[in-house]
Amino acid sequence: MPKPLRLGVNIDHVATVRNARGSAYPDPLRAARLAEQAGADGITAHLREDRRHIRDADIDALRSGIDIPLNFEMAATPEMQEIALRHLPHACCIVPEKREEVTTEGGLDVAGDLSRLTDYVGPLVEAGIRVSMFIGHDPAQIEASAKIGAQVIELHTGHFCDMHYAGDFAARDAELEALKAGAAYADSLGLEVHAGHGLTYETVEPIAEMKQIRELNIGHFLISEAIFVGLGPAIVHMRKLMDAARG
Ligand code: PXP
Repeated sequence: MPKPLRLGVNIDHVATVRNARGSAYPDPLRAARLAEQAGADGITAHLREDRRHIRDADIDALRSGIDIPLNFEMAATPEMQEIALRHLPHACCIVPEKREEVTTEGGLDVAGDLSRLTDYVGPLVEAGIRVSMFIGHDPAQIEASAKIGAQVIELHTGHFCDMHYAGDFAARDAELEALKAGAAYADSLGLEVHAGHGLTYETVEPIAEMKQIRELNIGHFLISEAIFVGLGPAIVHMRKLMDAARG
């Protein structure tokens, strides 16, 4: 019996639309509640250093306004650690963050920052937060994530999705094999395995098929699709594809 696969819905880009006009709408909390009703298992929100989408007040509102777990995506900075320890979300996903990037472009270099990240993650884990490292499939990064005390890794599926849409199917399939090997290796080390970035209806199935993966975090595509069909139906359809792939 395969383990269930959770869907975390990332609502960052509801805030992107709101901020584009400096208005009070659309409200990310309303989107989160709708996602919850449509069957999301968790809500993900990334408070970036430059607050380009989610803002501090959104985190306050999400923390008290939803009944499903909140996954707080953040860079490994002292400011974000303080905010996480104040809010105590269910989970924190540590991501690399460069001011100039459009989205989270690459995985975190955990192996290259071992001692700082060990010190960084410790207080979060002690506070009862599930800490996840957003990394590529490199075995050295997976081992380093286990070594620093993270309980979870989130595998970066962005390159796999980009290769699919670029029509480079040989590279895409090689990337998929590497992600599969990474998921199996992380699982063998006792890490819980999540995946996310760039996933769409077209790309979700081979990722959802991997039995070690316990959670997918999906945002941009669902918010995009919501423009045409509404957020609830977009989430319901994504869930259906995930469940079908899982068998
Ligand atoms: N997981 C992580 C760690 C991310 O940084 C993001 C983007 O914020 C996502 C998942 C969701 O990616 P997308 O919005 O492309 O679905």
